[in-house]
Amino acid sequence: MAYTTEGAKAGASPEDLKMEIEGVAKKAAMEAGRLIVAASGKAQNVETKGVRSDLVTEVDKACEDLIKQRVQESFPDHSILGEETSTSEELERLDATLADSDWTWIVDPIDGTLNFVGGLPLSVVSIGVAKANRVEVGVVFNPYSGELFTARRGEGAFLNGERISVLPPETELEDGAVSVGFPSKRPVRERMLRGVSAVAPHARTVRALGTAALHMSYVAAGKLACFFELNLKPWDVAAAWLIVEEAGGRVTDMAGKPMRLRAGPILASCGGQLHERVLSLLREAECTGEESDLR
Ligand code: IPD
Ligand code: CA
Ligand code: CA
Repeated sequence: MAYTTEGAKAGASPEDLKMEIEGVAKKAAMEAGRLIVAASGKAQNVETKGVRSDLVTEVDKACEDLIKQRVQESFPDHSILGEETSTSEELERLDATLADSDWTWIVDPIDGTLNFVGGLPLSVVSIGVAKANRVEVGVVFNPYSGELFTARRGEGAFLNGERISVLPPETELEDGAVSVGFPSKRPVRERMLRGVSAVAPHARTVRALGTAALHMSYVAAGKLACFFELNLKPWDVAAAWLIVEEAGGRVTDMAGKPMRLRAGPILASCGGQLHERVLSLLREAECTGEESDLR
């Protein structure tokens, strides 16, 4: 059934529409998840995207096509920004486009492509749905474990239907697991390493699972205390940003400024003193991210 932006049924409330959107996103993510698990470690056509460590496979493309098709079937007037089909111009114009548009689906068909190619069972499907410049619905699905993280703005965050929350805000860095990602471009990765060197000695431990959306979802579920990485893209963070905030966490850039949907550097955490402490260590290490890192 196709819906309009006003909702399927006459008089449907904005909440009803968000529930319909979440339902379609969940089903599409689970369908894509089946393709991912079936082909894990067996992808045939692996191409590089500019940098040798930035890969795309036929499964990334098939998952994105499938999700787009499901969106178009149900919400033909919604826009879609998918990692594998959007152009760099579309990314450049994102802030303006979002401000002007109604609903936009921001899709990462496989977050964790390097794990997928290597056969490591750590990749998720990430679908964030924004109205103007705000994500209103977020779905992150881990097809290997069946973990389904969801959030609708104002209604809390959930893992397989159970409400989740971040670690208590009084958590100290020494008692928290920090997670990080390593961007593909070498100078950005080197800068990231400076930040990791500054934070790691103070943390309980450090994890790098190779999927930003899963790291953030685990921050939301209180399994990790924080996550930071330079140079992320909107599809890496859109869904999980909302999930973290709805779970009571804090999301900023790595200088402590508000995040923007076009992403870049990000720090997602349980908030409180831990967030401030990580910001200050990153500042000392000059690992806060600059405009040039966004490219
Ligand atoms: C990547 C993953 C990885 C992060 C990279 C992202 P992809 O996304 O989230 O954890 O370190 O910066 O590009 O390419 O697997 O969709
Ligand atoms: Ca990604
Ligand atoms: Ca991807």
